[in-house]
Amino acid sequence: MAIKPLRKAVLPVAGLGTRFIPATKAMAKEMLPVVDKPLIQYAVEEARAAGIEQFCMITGRGKTALVEHFDVAYELEQVLRERGKTRELEMLSAISVAPGNMNTVRQQTPLGLGHAIWCARAFIGEDPFAILLPDDLVLAETPCTRQLAEVYAETGGSVVAVTEVPREQTSRYGILKVGHDDGRRVEVTGLVEKPRPEDAPSNLSIIGRYVLTADVMKYLAKHERGAGNEVQLTDAMAKTIGEVPFHGLRFEGRRFDCGDKVGFLEAQIAFALKRPDLAPAVRQFLKQYTEGSETA
Ligand code: UTP
Repeated sequence: MAIKPLRKAVLPVAGLGTRFIPATKAMAKEMLPVVDKPLIQYAVEEARAAGIEQFCMITGRGKTALVEHFDVAYELEQVLRERGKTRELEMLSAISVAPGNMNTVRQQTPLGLGHAIWCARAFIGEDPFAILLPDDLVLAETPCTRQLAEVYAETGGSVVAVTEVPREQTSRYGILKVGHDDGRRVEVTGLVEKPRPEDAPSNLSIIGRYVLTADVMKYLAKHERGAGNEVQLTDAMAKTIGEVPFHGLRFEGRRFDCGDKVGFLEAQIAFALKRPDLAPAVRQFLKQYTEGSETA
């Protein structure tokens, strides 16, 4: 069967972000900036670099700023024009998505990632789609979703980004059972959500980047609860193994879990050090600070 082109991305942003309270009391976690760009914008830019132009954000209460972020800001643009701030104007126009291409649906109640994806069923239809969890940020030469899209174009079916995690941490992640492994691309023969280290079939964990086919939707529609009493995407994906090809990709790049405080702080430093305008000052500050001259 012909492999359908990948044109759509789903961005789940309806979680409560409890690990970032109080910052997330009135503001979406996905609007937290890494250096000067909100997490959601990194995700949209990454998807675009894979040729994706149609987006669906799964939102919930208190998430309107995410929608506003991709709208036109007339007053701000007017002021910037009057002040001759062309660089800032260019930054704003780079954010905007073509009219009609940024869809949103409400999840109403955050019943789990699987339930969030099911809420996008009308947007997905019968098409393949990428999922990007904006709180996972990947620093890579080739954007991570593009790496997945390249594998998908060859294999079809499901392709997930994977990384090795310490065995004692498997109970935090979706873990793969692995068949043929060429060191980069692995055949997935099973998936377990948050297994105890002694039950984990490997130490290869899924990160928040997926390319899936619509085959997963019929299993999500059953709303079966899994780990944490949530509707787990991993459980529905596991059921498609055998129906569609399923691969994991040890992606090139470094992933930062920005849903976690330490991961978020690491991302700030790593992304700042990639910026020529900031790197020298940040490096100098880190050196001074870690040497202890500004501590105490
Ligand atoms: P997390 O597991 O990080 O949950 O969700 P969370 O609610 O965002 O954060 P904590 O754990 O309470 O601090 C991973 C991704 O899935 C989305 C989140 O918005 C995040 O992008 N999600 C999660 C939903 O959209 N709906 C859900 O029901 C659950």
